[in-house]
Amino acid sequence: MTQGDGMREVEVGLGQLRQTLRAWGQEHLLAFYPELSPAQKDALTAQLRTIDWPYLGELTETHVRRKPDVSAPEPIEPAPYYPVVPEDPEFYRRARERGMSLIRQGHVAAFAVAGGQGTRLGWDDPKGTFPATPIGRKPLFQIFAEQLRRTEGLYEAVVPWYIMTSAANHAVTQDFFEAHDYFGLGRENVTLFPQGMMPSIGFDGRLLLGEKCALALNPDGHGGSLTALAKSGALADMARRGVTQISYFQVDNPNVRCIDPLFIGLHVGDGADMSSKMLRKVSPKEKVGVFCLAAGKPCVIEYSDMPDALAEAEDETGALKFGAGSIAIHMISLDFARRLTAGKGERLELPFHRAEKKVPHIDPETGDCVSPEMPNAVKLERFIFDALPLARHSIILETDRVEEFAPIKNAEGNDSPESSVNLQIERAARWLEANGVEVPYRDGEVDAVIEISPLTALSAEDLGNAELPARIEPGQKVLL
Ligand code: UTP
Repeated sequence: MTQGDGMREVEVGLGQLRQTLRAWGQEHLLAFYPELSPAQKDALTAQLRTIDWPYLGELTETHVRRKPDVSAPEPIEPAPYYPVVPEDPEFYRRARERGMSLIRQGHVAAFAVAGGQGTRLGWDDPKGTFPATPIGRKPLFQIFAEQLRRTEGLYEAVVPWYIMTSAANHAVTQDFFEAHDYFGLGRENVTLFPQGMMPSIGFDGRLLLGEKCALALNPDGHGGSLTALAKSGALADMARRGVTQISYFQVDNPNVRCIDPLFIGLHVGDGADMSSKMLRKVSPKEKVGVFCLAAGKPCVIEYSDMPDALAEAEDETGALKFGAGSIAIHMISLDFARRLTAGKGERLELPFHRAEKKVPHIDPETGDCVSPEMPNAVKLERFIFDALPLARHSIILETDRVEEFAPIKNAEGNDSPESSVNLQIERAARWLEANGVEVPYRDGEVDAVIEISPLTALSAEDLGNAELPARIEPGQKVLL
């Protein structure tokens, strides 16, 4: 089992373990011990011995029995950002050049966080294996791999790719990459490592059994990625390769630009530790966190924690004052990641967040499997954006929704495979039109199914290098 915070190797006998569990109100975890096989007994006791009970007890008090204080320090102000349309095009041109030069010199690594459980989508395999594109049904991992391959070709450099998995999906993810021969990137340039896990805690403060011989665990959040990068040796590997900047993205956004020269260049040019991309929120209620300055420090305030008055406040132009939505795309300097994790072992002090979830478990009285209809437990998770206030300097770059945000979160409706496909088509149409290709529309929607492979182009500008038709016919399927 991968160890996360709250877990520590301690050698104690069963009697002592039972006493410890009793002291922390967790004796039910041994309810089925007598009926387990010797191997199962060993597995369960080994797992229970890794728990740092005083630490977990404290977290249970502050985050389960009570709710943590999530208010950001005052004053809360909107965070400044670089606009998507540059005020000074020459400044952006120089930044882009700087980013390109860093890629060319092999200083940039890609980092995808793919350890989530993807419960809303309801896809049983790792989310990165989900077929996401309009025609080729390419899995998400393949889209990113092809972006990296084209980047490597354009810049004649290696872009090593690090992928964070979880104990629950690591083996399947590894098998997937093996089966696809690492999509041509070279197995030596793709590093998969699992993140830490945390026990899921029932609302009454008791830990849940996922099986009679094992705790119910959940991945410790994308904020666990910094510790996992350090513990897995990925940061050391980056240093060995001469990587200085980490391009961080989530596994569920097929339109993300895995490696963006402009973003890299602005981030490095400003000497930032950690930087972010943002989108202007479409409404005060849109469910994305918002970049703010809280007591002068950059941070993201989650939509659920944002007071209505602030969420709805407008600036002098009538735009949302707190409209800078976070889309979980960051640049992180290797120095910053090392500084945050150095000497801290498993105790990188990013705060835990409380998520109320339905966690299937074994009833300790009856031994029955319970699949709750309503949330029954707290999952404790860390969020990557909580590292922002620790950065000595940080920049935000505005981006364009169609260009870079087509998330797949839900099975249907908003942020679903269908809405993502529509956005991918809209972006492809835009890139074609930028290159003089005529695209048909009906009722304001693109009247064709278009897919542009990342191996063909990474941007509208890059598409200019491809052979293109003069026009797309209504209803046509076009795979470029
Ligand atoms: P989400 O917050 O969308 O969570 O993750 P999820 O687990 O994928 O999906 P639901 O909420 O169960 O439906 C955003 C990104 O962070 C990664 C996910 O894999 C996704 O890329 N993530 C999330 C991790 O890598 N580890 C975690 O512990 C949580």
